[in-house]
Amino acid sequence: VANTDYYRPLYHHTPSYGWMNDANGMVYKDGEYHLYFQYNPYGSKWGNMHWGHAVSTDLAHWREMEPAIARDTMGHIFSGSSVVDKENTAGYGKGAIIALYTSASDRNGQIQCMAYSTDNGRTFTKYEGNPVLRPFDGLKDFRDPKVFWYEPAGAWYMIVSADKEMRFYKSDNLKKWTYVSAFGRGYGMQPSQYECPDFVRLPVNGDMNNMKYVMLMNVNPGCLFGGSATEYFVGDFDGKEFRCLDDPHTPKWLDYGKDHYATVCFSNTGDRVIAMPWMSNWQYANVTPIKQYRGANALPRELSLYTKDGRYYVAADVAPEIRALRKDTRNVPDMRVDGSEDKAAVADGCDGAFEIEADITPGEAGVAGLEIYNGKGEKTVIYLDMRNRRIVTDRTQSGLTDFGLKAEPHDIEKKADAQRAEENRKPMRIENAVNYKNDFALGTWAPLELCEGKTYHVDIFVDKCSVELFVDGGRIAMTNLVFPTSPYDSLRFYTEGGTAAFRNVKLHKISL
Ligand code: FRU
Repeated sequence: VANTDYYRPLYHHTPSYGWMNDANGMVYKDGEYHLYFQYNPYGSKWGNMHWGHAVSTDLAHWREMEPAIARDTMGHIFSGSSVVDKENTAGYGKGAIIALYTSASDRNGQIQCMAYSTDNGRTFTKYEGNPVLRPFDGLKDFRDPKVFWYEPAGAWYMIVSADKEMRFYKSDNLKKWTYVSAFGRGYGMQPSQYECPDFVRLPVNGDMNNMKYVMLMNVNPGCLFGGSATEYFVGDFDGKEFRCLDDPHTPKWLDYGKDHYATVCFSNTGDRVIAMPWMSNWQYANVTPIKQYRGANALPRELSLYTKDGRYYVAADVAPEIRALRKDTRNVPDMRVDGSEDKAAVADGCDGAFEIEADITPGEAGVAGLEIYNGKGEKTVIYLDMRNRRIVTDRTQSGLTDFGLKAEPHDIEKKADAQRAEENRKPMRIENAVNYKNDFALGTWAPLELCEGKTYHVDIFVDKCSVELFVDGGRIAMTNLVFPTSPYDSLRFYTEGGTAAFRNVKLHKISL
């Protein structure tokens, strides 16, 4: 393929060149969303970590900026978070943006550092007293500080991922931190390493008088369908400890695809909680079939909290700003599909960037779904599998699928590198995947018990190299990369073993 940018998404954020992993340090201030991200300006593989920077007023159109924090002699600039210091607690003026990040090097290990910006997040000055925090036990994996303001204590808190637990610290001035407690040892998916925490407060079923905390925890490797993914825990926080409300040993997943990682939220967005996932998986992130740049962010999602069968769950629905990009909506007549005859629709003229909505009532059908395909017979299949009460995205025949077999190390210590790469290489938990062929060619699925009722609203966003599925307002989110060698431009609705109804089917072209 001559155009090496063929797979560059049309409405997802990407850097124009270089390598990108985790979105991190995101903050909203004075009408601007600041998206910082793990960035290598010198090549399209992981290395030389900086904080890249992009700015948007609507979470959809991103303006590329100069990298905000550059790698220095202390080490890589790993993931972290930023806050707006409204009360000037750190002494750089009211409204300064304060960033906390991990400095990582062989010599110093992983230590937490601070930088401040007094020009609305354009440039940062590193604090002369860095580091502000070292691990008290010499821990090697100690990174990705998440800072938040906790009103009842009138203090800043920071959560640092510390190998197999998350550690809380507390501060008055964002510089001097004292240890508070730890959370998570032995919880969720084990054994894995925790990375990139976030901690947000959400109303239960929209009730502002009943708020709970959610800890997002990114975990690698060994997740659902292999490699990296995002877990979460719902609970109460009293300024000392975070206590999980449901059984913390049963993992809950923010997304059921393979390409949703290092997900954290924008700070300073008021009642809205907006998460931004990096759209890849450490199993193959360095070898995706892209050359000029590598790495895209998934669509921003708005998080909410709901209860089902007495348990707490987070819904992750696409941010309304993305739906506002809809152009040329086509309504497809309601249809009943009975297994003998498929129904079709076209998505031509969209250049492979569109959204499909449908209300699917599977009825007695065993399978009810749709194929999103191109003229070469490459397809991504999304279907309700009622025999197993799950919804599946199958990308085994989606286009290029055989590049992702070898993981590449991205850690700083060579030995740990080799070890982790070896672990990553193991196709862990493939028994969970549908039609497993390799770490990329497989289907991912989510349990339908997260939804209510007999009709499922599916909302599918297709772009040049991704398919994101949202079911029933984000009760299920499923993000998967795909590499079709020509744009998907057709749809086929089908069933097996019975008749299903497809209603309110809409096709929206999506463009910026
Ligand atoms: C997560 C991660 C973080 C780390 C960063 C390095 O994907 O491993 O833990 O800070 O990437 O780029």
